[in-house]
Formats: sequence, structure tokens, C-alpha cells
Amino acid sequence: MATAIERFDERARRRFESLGRTVVYVGELRRHPVYTRFLHWMVALFFFLALFSGFGIYLPWLFRWFTPIFGGGPLARALHPWFGIFCVFFFGLQMLNWLKPMMWTPADTNWMRNLRGIVSGKEKLEPPDTGFFNAGQKLQFWEIVIGCVVFLITGIILWAGARTFGSTLVAISYVLHDVSAIVMLGGIFVHIYLSTIGEPGTFQAMTRGAVSEPWAWTFHPAWYREVTGRDPRESYEKAREETERAVTQNPSESKLRSK
Ligand code: HEM
Repeated sequence: MATAIERFDERARRRFESLGRTVVYVGELRRHPVYTRFLHWMVALFFFLALFSGFGIYLPWLFRWFTPIFGGGPLARALHPWFGIFCVFFFGLQMLNWLKPMMWTPADTNWMRNLRGIVSGKEKLEPPDTGFFNAGQKLQFWEIVIGCVVFLITGIILWAGARTFGSTLVAISYVLHDVSAIVMLGGIFVHIYLSTIGEPGTFQAMTRGAVSEPWAWTFHPAWYREVTGRDPRESYEKAREETERAVTQNPSESKLRSK
């Protein structure tokens, strides 16, 4: 039976589907619906607004040049908590939306054990039981969940100030708020690298909402098997043989293609 969260999510997805489009071409698979993409980009927008306004407030000697974007120092200070609240709000909805696919499974423990082979690129495909999200993505997701809780609690304490919460709590909140920002920023750098240059073909999952079949059988083989009913390893070998055959039959064309 569908839970209240699933019903809420399903209604939101249906509503958003009429506001945008997800075009899936031949040889592609649908990855993220309009609702998920909308939430993701709202989180990213407010995350960076909070980050840049925060930099200007907490390290003014280094990032003074950020504050004019927000209308000056006092306005950046006034807007920063609101950017944070919107970021946490949209990520809260994203959390409900992704709760199920982000649950830890034995396949994730297996993925972690194979981490060295995956990172070194020795293995062409990720472990065959890698589903919709891999363990690395799940770990980052839960790190952001914890980060959002820390931001929210410490942010409210800093916002209300020492008169309401006392100077000790405010001092601790400063440290936790900044540590959380540094951890999350480090993670987001890795995330942006992997979503663009690191794993080519990923970015379109969050723009058009669709990915190529080779992307799916390479990075998420179990999800590929689930949605197509085909064996990811067989599909990969078939594509590799076809490419090799095309190169041997027409070497001049392969030269042109590789230019
Ligand atoms: C310009 C910056 C960003 C880019 C280019 C980007 C790109 C992407 C892409 C392409 C995906 C889909 C991956 C997949 O389907 O496997 C994704 C997923 C995700 N994004 Fe972002 N993103 C950005 C910023 C952010 C920010 C600021 C946050 C949160 C604070 C965030 C949190 C997530 C999470 C939790 C996922 C799901 C798990 C994952 O793929 O890691 N993203 N992002």
C-alpha cells in the first residue's frame, strides 16, 4: 500500500509533468521527472546563494567583493538565513522524493568494497548490482541530509543570537555551521565534477531528464536491467563488437570520427 509520502510525491510529480517536458529519444532512458529536476535546481540555486552571501559575511576580508551582488553587507546578512531556509525546504522535499532509492542495500556495501577498482577505472562497468543510485551518491545524499539539519538548528540559534540562546551555544553553533559548510562544499565540488566531466552523459539526467542506454549500463547496470529487461554486460559487449567491426570495415571513417 502506498504511504502518505509516496502519495504526496506522486501527486507532485503528476502536477509538474504538465508544467515541463521530458523528451526521451530512441536509445535513451527516462531518468529524472520534471518535479525532481525542479527541486534539484531550486536546492542548487539557494545553496549557492546561501554560500556566497555566507562567504561575504563570515570572511569579509577575503570575500568582500561578493556582497555587492546582494545589495551590500547588511542586506547580504539579512538575506543569508532566508536563502538557507529555502535551500533546506527544497532539499526536504527532495529527501521525501528520493527516500526510497536512497536506502542502503547489500549492493551498496559491495560497491564500497569495490571502490578501488571503480575509481581506478580498471572495471569498465560498475558492479552488476548497482541500482538507480550507487553507494557514493547515497552517502553524499545522507551527508547533505545531516548537513541540512545542522544548518537549520545552528542557523536558527545564530539568527536569534546570544540574547535568546546564550553566548556558549552561539559560539558552538558558529563552529558547527562553518564545519558543515566546508564539508558540504567539498562534497559539492566532487559532485559537480562527477556530474559533468568525471562521468560524461550524466549532466543531461538533470537537464533533459533522460540518459543514453550506454550511460545506464555503464554506471547503473542493475537499473538498466530493471527498466529494459536486458543484460548490461551483453549490451556493452555487443556495442563494443559493433564499434570494432565498424572501425575494421571503414578505418577512414573512424579516423574522421576520432578527429
Ligand atoms: C551546478 C551544480 C550542480 C550540478 C551540475 C549538479 C548535477 C547533478 C546531476 C546531473 C545529477 C543526477 C545524477 C544521476 O542521475 O545519477 C545530480 C544529482 C544530485 N544532486 Fe546535483 N548538481 C549540482 C548541484 C547540487 C547541489 C548544490 C546539491 C545539494 C546541496 C546537489 C545535490 C544532489 C543530490 C543529492 C543528487 C542525487 C545523488 C547524486 O547524484 O549524487 N546538487 N546532480
